[in-house]
Amino acid sequence: MKRLKYAVGIVGVCAAFLFSACNSDESKKDNEPQQQMKLQPIVIQGALPVESERMAAKLDHVTVETIGGWKFWKGTYKGYPMIISKTRMGMSNSAAATAIAIQKYQPIAIINQGTSGGHDPELNVFDIVLGKYTTNIGAFRTPQQPIGGGSDALTWHEAFDVLPEDESDPEPIAIRKFESDPELLIAAYAAKANYSKGQVVEGTIGSADVWNNELDRIKFFHRTYGTSVEEMEAASVAQIAHQFKVPFLGIRILSNNITNNGAYDPATGEACQDYVLDVAEQYMKAKSESK
Ligand code: 5AD
Repeated sequence: MKRLKYAVGIVGVCAAFLFSACNSDESKKDNEPQQQMKLQPIVIQGALPVESERMAAKLDHVTVETIGGWKFWKGTYKGYPMIISKTRMGMSNSAAATAIAIQKYQPIAIINQGTSGGHDPELNVFDIVLGKYTTNIGAFRTPQQPIGGGSDALTWHEAFDVLPEDESDPEPIAIRKFESDPELLIAAYAAKANYSKGQVVEGTIGSADVWNNELDRIKFFHRTYGTSVEEMEAASVAQIAHQFKVPFLGIRILSNNITNNGAYDPATGEACQDYVLDVAEQYMKAKSESK
């Protein structure tokens, strides 16, 4: 009995030694303090390859997972665990990619980022909007019109709230805005100093499966919803993150702005990725320090 205890003791000590040797080897190799690896990963989404692949290429220890039509790169950036998710375009794709990411990776937070079209004539291509608010600009109850009465989107003044508290009302009318997580916003401000290609401002991101080119309609959204930019994913992601209680921030660079003749520039997608990786690093750093 005594001998057995002794043997178990030796095995235990060896295992502990081996484990710590492995661990210290890892951390020496990667220069990754243990604390960083204890955090759950942050998910950063981009709809298109030009909005996601540059970030994915900067991860270390990458593994790729494809679930349905959605691709996830899992790895670390500066030692912090991160998942880059290519959601594909639009509200349904981004909602599905978000639900999958939350269930599979239990992220500490989600950033939805990418290109957008300006609604605010004061903003220029390469400026970045931090979505203090994100809102759906594709859900309406239209006025009644008889056959032959035509259709005029400028008369659609009733926003349809797809996430009402009172689910017994089949026609809930309200503009719903999702507020961003304050700690993610602080991280975005911390990264602002390193972004030199344009301004970084707080604003409202409007999302729908629509690319608006009617200047009167854009003006309507800017005035009524307070939108700074439009794109096709952020509000959908915010809606899912809200229901899972996962901290969320939308970050959008202007790739075009027809309100001031800002021509489309494809280089904006990569500029936004560089800025957002910096935001994610700032957020994870703050989180690891507060642990
Ligand atoms: N309107 C709508 N979506 C836009 N995007 C960039 N600019 C605009 C715009 N003016 C983004 C969307 C979508 C893709 C078409 O690019 O989010 O993923």
